Amino acid sequence: MYLQFSYIKYWLRRSEEHSIHSPFLFNFYTQVVRSKHALDPEVEAIRETLLKDKNLIDLVDYGAGSLINKGKKKSVKSIAKISSSPPKFSAFLHQVISYFGYQEVIELGTSLGLNSLYLSKDDKVNLTTFEGDPNLCKKARDSFSEAQRTNIHVVEGDINETLPAFLQTTERIDLAYLDANHKFEPTLNYFDLCLDKMSKNGLIILDDIHWSKEMWKAWKEIISRPEAILTVDLFDAGLVFLNPDIQPGNYTLTF
Ligand SMILES: C[S@@+](CC[C@H](N)C(=O)[O-])C[C@H]1O[C@@H](n2cnc3c(N)ncnc32)[C@H](O)[C@@H]1O
Repeated sequence: MYLQFSYIKYWLRRSEEHSIHSPFLFNFYTQVVRSKHALDPEVEAIRETLLKDKNLIDLVDYGAGSLINKGKKKSVKSIAKISSSPPKFSAFLHQVISYFGYQEVIELGTSLGLNSLYLSKDDKVNLTTFEGDPNLCKKARDSFSEAQRTNIHVVEGDINETLPAFLQTTERIDLAYLDANHKFEPTLNYFDLCLDKMSKNGLIILDDIHWSKEMWKAWKEIISRPEAILTVDLFDAGLVFLNPDIQPGNYTLTF
């Protein structure tokens, strides 16, 4: 119910390229957001297989990131259907990486690894993806092997512990895609932790900003931060550009 109400608010607020004053955003919007999102046939074949997989797996309850999977057995097919992004959004993630030439990428919340496969599609990308559930990690690793991806590193464990440890050993992050615990405090915490290591041209993407009141509150808080130079609400996700040299603004745009 909340999601439907939130969509109406988004729909009433959203605009298209004519509202964009920033040349940086105009180019990104017309060339990436509004361009055709090409699906990867190999990854979509993996998605199709997962969507038919009736096997049940035990899930660890990791709070609101897995609200729909709360601490019980779920079929692989229902996880693929409910927890994974729509193919169009997955393909968009890949286009973002190609457009900016990002290399150091992290994903919080691997689940079955479908977005990981798009995030790691460019050979030069080094993707680190974080997931707490051991059974999901295994399924994701199987898909990464099937797609012969050698540029994905899965970090298994509670992100509250694994992310700070990872950040101590990492030099820089170009793109951080946050799609794990969808609660107010963890979301702000992940954002703040990543900020420290983001490159100047870096981008933080927050999934599901319209999913709940808490996520919307977290988004409103984040876009008020001085580091959030240019922000874009695309409904499926919120984008936070950090480069202080680009024209600032907060936009709500059609995806
Ligand atoms: C929405 S799903 C991620 C979907 C995935 N990015 C995709 O689109 O294919 C969120 C995932 O985050 C994981 N998660 C949530 N909170 C976590 C935590 N504190 N530590 C580790 N994993 C967590 C859940 O187990 C769940 O698999």
